[in-house]
Amino acid sequence: MPAIVLVGAQWGDEGKGKATDLLGASVDYVVKFNGGNNAGHTVVIGGEKYALHLLPSGILSPGVVPVIGNGVVVDLEVLFDELTALKARGIDVSRLRISANAHIIPSYNRTIDKVRERFLGKRRLGTTGRGIGPTYADKMNRVGIRVQDLFDAKILAQKVEAALDEKNHMLVKIFNRRAVDAEEVTAELLSYADRLAPMVADTGLLLHQALDAGKTVVFEAGQATMLDVDHGTYPFVTSSNATSAGACTGSGVAPTRVDRVVAVHKAYTTRVGEGPFPTELHDAMGDFLRDRGFEFGTTTGRPRRCGWADTVVGRYATRINGVTDYVITKLDVLTGLDTIPICVAYDVGGTRYDEMPVNQTDFHHAVPIYEDLPGWSQDITGTRTFEELPGNAQRYLDRLEELLGARISVIGVGPGRDEVIVRHSLLGAQSLADAAHAEDVRR
Ligand code: GDP
Ligand code: IMO
Ligand code: MG
Repeated sequence: MPAIVLVGAQWGDEGKGKATDLLGASVDYVVKFNGGNNAGHTVVIGGEKYALHLLPSGILSPGVVPVIGNGVVVDLEVLFDELTALKARGIDVSRLRISANAHIIPSYNRTIDKVRERFLGKRRLGTTGRGIGPTYADKMNRVGIRVQDLFDAKILAQKVEAALDEKNHMLVKIFNRRAVDAEEVTAELLSYADRLAPMVADTGLLLHQALDAGKTVVFEAGQATMLDVDHGTYPFVTSSNATSAGACTGSGVAPTRVDRVVAVHKAYTTRVGEGPFPTELHDAMGDFLRDRGFEFGTTTGRPRRCGWADTVVGRYATRINGVTDYVITKLDVLTGLDTIPICVAYDVGGTRYDEMPVNQTDFHHAVPIYEDLPGWSQDITGTRTFEELPGNAQRYLDRLEELLGARISVIGVGPGRDEVIVRHSLLGAQSLADAAHAEDVRR
């Protein structure tokens, strides 16, 4: 049985790493299906902090087979750095499998990502500078370099040369940079081939066979719904499909095999980089959320923009991803506030929007319509059942659940692995009572 897709419902950094880790012990495979080392997942185990970028969080759980699917873009230098660092901390990384069809981020694409952002000036996107956009562009332009190319030196040399033919014109003539030497790039990529070889596999087939054998497979998204290249706040997005459908194209597992879609949603909202964010707070309250929630990027260290929960975005995430369960993280960060506003709709030039406006321009001008809920002051980090939560925290979650339109199954009350309230298991078949509750929420 279950194939579970785990996605971010907002603009990233919802706590997907922790949610995957929480499932860890009962999971057989964890698959990363999109993005690359633009992701940053912090997982805290026994007081020790692990920051992962390229590797799926499942690598921290003994027994789990971590898989990098075909939809991922792989920076080989980062891959081996992360593996070495984890090995040094006693983590067994030998089970990692990487798709032969995954694309590689050559060093020239990191350069292009950075110079392009500089060139754009005020119109920049605020990318992570990891070469993500240029590498996905190469994939679509059919000039990308794939993992399997490393095992055919002649083909690799031809492909690198072909890619650089055009890029060097761009680097020299538009960006005023030095041309990149194709032979140097080829030699650098080939230097990883021997170490990479034992990890390379037909991961689509591997996962298909695992599901046939009744194994549990979690597909862990990088980034999030609003950063999805098709469904997010384009052009202020990443360059891959971070929504649940991406789990299929990015892994080679068919949609009919997916059993559940779990979305991770903070009790408030954050965003890194440029782009619209209706509930963003520019005042002391925004600083409060940033300080209390320690909202600084795991990848770039940039302060995250902070604001209230936005259920227009949330309902959209429920719909686009087909969410069956929500994990609400960081509820503890809201402790001590008198009132907690939830955005229930937008006002755009006098018109009320209960659903995401179709036009990006309208979304840029959306003014949140808030419902104020009463806060609580008791420390909730030690709470392990819903019933033990202060009444107002329960009311906040109930209202959030109603507005999101899918049931809240897990609640995060602290960064630690065990700092969670599990109302409904995210694994296995749903019980009848669980299914009835989910149906009630939808109604
Ligand atoms: P990801 O990119 O979605 O995996 O999330 P990040 O790791 O970038 O950011 C989430 C941060 O929130 C991490 O530092 C986690 O340790 C932390 N975190 C996760 N869940 C909770 C929670 O329930 N409470 C608190 N206080 N922190 C949490
Ligand atoms: P996780 O997996 C938050 C943002 C960048 C930028 C935009 C495009 O940790 O949730 P890119 O380098 O991908 O071309 O940048 O996307 N971004 C993220 N923001 N969390 C992430 O990942 C992100 N990955 C990319 O800040 O605005
Ligand atoms: Mg992150």
